[in-house]
Amino acid sequence: MLVPLLLFLAGARLLAAAFPPLPRSYTLRLLQTSTFQDGGVDTEGLGLLDDIELGVLEHRTWAIRFLQPWVRPALPRGDWDAIEDMVRIYLNKFHHLVWAGAVEKGVPFPFVAQCTAGCELFPNGSSKAFAYVAYDGRDFLSYDMGSGTWLLRQDTDLARYVRETLRNYTAFTELVEVLFNSTCVDDVDIILHYAKEALERQVKPVAVVFAKVPNPARLLLVCRVTGFYPRPVSVAWLRDGQEVPPGPELSATPPLPNADLTYQLRSILAVAPRDGHRYACRVQHSSLGGRSLLVPWGNSGVILPAGLAAATVVLVAATATAVVVWMRRRRKYQEMDDSERSSSVRSH
Ligand SMILES: *[C@@H]1O[C@H](CO)[C@@H](O)[C@H](O)[C@H]1NC(C)=O
Ligand SMILES: *[C@@H]1O[C@H](CO)[C@@H](O)[C@H](O)[C@H]1NC(C)=O
Ligand SMILES: *[C@@H]1O[C@H](CO)[C@@H](O)[C@H](O)[C@H]1NC(C)=O
Repeated sequence: MLVPLLLFLAGARLLAAAFPPLPRSYTLRLLQTSTFQDGGVDTEGLGLLDDIELGVLEHRTWAIRFLQPWVRPALPRGDWDAIEDMVRIYLNKFHHLVWAGAVEKGVPFPFVAQCTAGCELFPNGSSKAFAYVAYDGRDFLSYDMGSGTWLLRQDTDLARYVRETLRNYTAFTELVEVLFNSTCVDDVDIILHYAKEALERQVKPVAVVFAKVPNPARLLLVCRVTGFYPRPVSVAWLRDGQEVPPGPELSATPPLPNADLTYQLRSILAVAPRDGHRYACRVQHSSLGGRSLLVPWGNSGVILPAGLAAATVVLVAATATAVVVWMRRRRKYQEMDDSERSSSVRSH
């Protein structure tokens, strides 16, 4: 069954049109989680293009369920059938290999095997395929597509044994190569052109600044930025118009996903109460068209020297449109944040 599939895919590759250069790198990633228990194996699969979920494997049937309307039309029906067949063959072999190895080496059940495999396409037209295996949450093996060899990611008997099994069992390795080193690369090139809208989606951030008072000597200024896409964002604190450099008083979460494929983060600046400085949070994001979102911390109790006040007004004016938009939204957020404000802050 494998050989006709390989021939089919080799043929399909010749039909793939030459596309213009890519503006950036793109990664297609398949995540597989297989839980091995006494009663059997339970496998979940998810396909992602960068951070966009393309599809999942249906439970038991291992048919692909598409999560975006543009994924299925990207490839002819026959290609999807071939991919589903390959995935089924791959999973059957994987389950069989791992099960036999676990019994042979007396590995206790239950355990979890996770695989991350896929390919990255670069703007210069080259690509790189990858495959990693983890065992119970720890790096276990990886496959080097360049040299066509399995590499140990942990130096244990079990990892060495599995690597030797895979070396002996070349059919499985060939399947991995076909799936990721050729099919993945060719198909991403095609899918990218259907995914254009989703990949170029721009959603503007909404930002709000509020304060927390963990103790009377310390004020934590929190800048919460949420609802933006894509993920890259730059959030900085300005003290009297000057960017606060990285330091112990500054901390931030990484961008974390929201449920609607937007991101959020918090940047926190620790200051002394009534230190006489004026603070603002500055957000830069591709959706803002080169402008910044500037959110001043609205504590009227702060004493501001006149010169600095003028500088701040200029700064604020420069981003007036963005701020007006933000002000409208902020009202809603401030209501939500009131619970987090200390009364000693509000009284100023
Ligand atoms: C293409 O770009 C990638 C990533 O920047 C790089 O690793 C690779 O060496 C480049 N390949 C060629 C042929 O220039
Ligand atoms: C994977 O593809 C690259 C580029 O086409 C090739 O150089 C490499 O030899 C392939 N690796 C394997 C293991 O087939
Ligand atoms: C791999 O093949 C060699 C030679 O046939 C054999 O001695 C060895 O036991 C095999 N190892 C595994 C893990 O199957």
